[in-house]
Amino acid sequence: MIQKINTLEEYHEVYRKSVEQPENFWAEIAATFKWQKKWDRVLEWNFRDPDIKWFAGGRLNITENCLDRHLETKGDQVAILWEPNHPGGEAIQLTYNQLHTEVCRLSNALKSQGIAKGDRVCLYMPMVPELAIAVLACARIGAIHSVVFAGFSSRALADRINDADASMVLTADGAYRGPKTIDLKSIVDEALTDCPGVLNVWVLKRTGSAVDMVAGRDTWWHDALEGVPAIYAAETMDAEDNLFVLYTSGSTGKPKGVMHTTGGYMVYAEYSFRNVFQYNEGDIYWCTADIGWITGHTYIVYGPLLAGATTLMFEGIPTYPDAGRFWEVTDKHQVNLFYTAPTAIRALQAKSPDFVARHNLSSLKVLGSVGEPINEEAWEWYHEQIGKKKCPIVDTWWQTETGGIMISPLAGITPLKPGFATLPLPGIQPMLVDHDGNEMKGNGVEGNLCIRFPWPSMIRSTWGDHERCRKTYFETFDNAYFTGDGCRRDAEGYYRITGRVDDVINVSGHRFGTAEIENAINEHPQVVESAVVGYPHEIKGQGIYAYVICTGLPADQQEVRAGIRATVNAFIGPIAKPDKVQFVKGLPKTRSGKIMRRVLRKIAEGGSSELGDVSTLLDPEVVEEIKEGAV
Ligand code: WTA
Repeated sequence: MIQKINTLEEYHEVYRKSVEQPENFWAEIAATFKWQKKWDRVLEWNFRDPDIKWFAGGRLNITENCLDRHLETKGDQVAILWEPNHPGGEAIQLTYNQLHTEVCRLSNALKSQGIAKGDRVCLYMPMVPELAIAVLACARIGAIHSVVFAGFSSRALADRINDADASMVLTADGAYRGPKTIDLKSIVDEALTDCPGVLNVWVLKRTGSAVDMVAGRDTWWHDALEGVPAIYAAETMDAEDNLFVLYTSGSTGKPKGVMHTTGGYMVYAEYSFRNVFQYNEGDIYWCTADIGWITGHTYIVYGPLLAGATTLMFEGIPTYPDAGRFWEVTDKHQVNLFYTAPTAIRALQAKSPDFVARHNLSSLKVLGSVGEPINEEAWEWYHEQIGKKKCPIVDTWWQTETGGIMISPLAGITPLKPGFATLPLPGIQPMLVDHDGNEMKGNGVEGNLCIRFPWPSMIRSTWGDHERCRKTYFETFDNAYFTGDGCRRDAEGYYRITGRVDDVINVSGHRFGTAEIENAINEHPQVVESAVVGYPHEIKGQGIYAYVICTGLPADQQEVRAGIRATVNAFIGPIAKPDKVQFVKGLPKTRSGKIMRRVLRKIAEGGSSELGDVSTLLDPEVVEEIKEGAV
């Protein structure tokens, strides 16, 4: 079993070892897992191609480590504890034995449908146990899962299905989201009109919504599982075989499929889970993310199950039936470790304190935060009102690309500082770099956050386009992985993430490229050109501000604004709809035609008096006009 770090001195000692002898360090941790064949080499790498291999030659199946290896000692312990959307609905408990059986059954069913090792299977599902089962069944047969968050639109889904060339989609008739029902199957049907590669769709019955089943393509989930055997011998995978692809946005182009492989991801998922949350046997752990995001992959499914924990899965939303739901569920299931996003904390903080006071939160031991910078007010509220000042808050910085938590306190061990992700995990070597690529050594510096040495769960490639991976992450700074984040290292050596330094905005913890939203807006028939920037938003962290040029100033601005929002909804999904739309006659462009986003950001922030040097603009007057019309 992986040994946890127990004290701050031990952390420093382990950290030093992890930097001085990374291979020995990770080999010792990897040895705690079940391998079908031991690796030949711990690490081979270069950041130029990039080419990164952890535990090459090793053979394993991650689900044997999530499931089979626990059966003897904790077969009857709850693995997945599921809380439905509707309060009063029945919670489901799946023990490790039961989860193993369900995963084996689905594995057999997928296999008999013809899904083979390396095939891509797209999962577009509600937060129900079957989603976790499907993730694990794919891994068990060696298929590559591509989970798409069920809040994305049919076009966004189609893009992801086609990019990964998935041959199968697993979905449900519908999903409950608070008071709403979303007809997932009809969204899938619409998407598939553009996806000729998809041969099979399995449909889980969840809401009972009416669905059209396409003959020869669609099968009910329960029919597919009928009579299948409950044992499936896990496929043998190479440590560097692909485990999953997960789409995420960057500053340019369409979202890209981040690739993670099997062995290194597994090792880092459990190591980081145990250490950051300081998980103890028997703890009830709840991460409120959706499995459609990396947080759900690593810290609802893989990390906790690898550690043999009880992981709570919640189908609903924080504000249904009221803003006390998280705390009601915490009390009901006696949750010990709780992990959520700042946007949820801020939304709940804005509601009456009664929603918290009504519930007993004394089971809580550790609180976590992820996805965006947590502001001090939200940190303090979380600490005082939820943690009653006795629970450490782990502010965990990481990314889809990093696979696991990179910079974070270890709960109860690392002294906390609100707003700071504090110190890197063992094995993680952050580096701050200035614009010219020079490393900024010492403390009290701020720059671009890079990582100078590989870690086991790092991105290996982007699906179908390795060059894009190289360009995005490994080209900007020589011999380093570039995160896209800005960061300050204070006098004590503590890290504080200051936000993205590229054209990515973070809305309620969701990443969007500004270009991606602009492309959607530009699909509106009256739009000629647009520019999108982020601006500080009280609840969402960042809001979306769109400057839009139309064919003539619209007569009915409200109508066109609504039309633009609907277009973004159709091309990406409701989470990407602009909060503010300003109609403009021109955009501030330099002589080379580049939009000066810095100016647009300032105006969106309401700071139009300090725009800086605009002398290189082609038409500085445009700026005056935009300032006047700011919304
Ligand atoms: C941001 C989510 C500040 C950051 C796991 C990063 C954070 C992006 C934090 C990745 C944090 C994540 N403090 N910023 N604790 N955690 N971020 O890929 O900008 O959805 O680059 O992964 O979220 O978002 P992603």
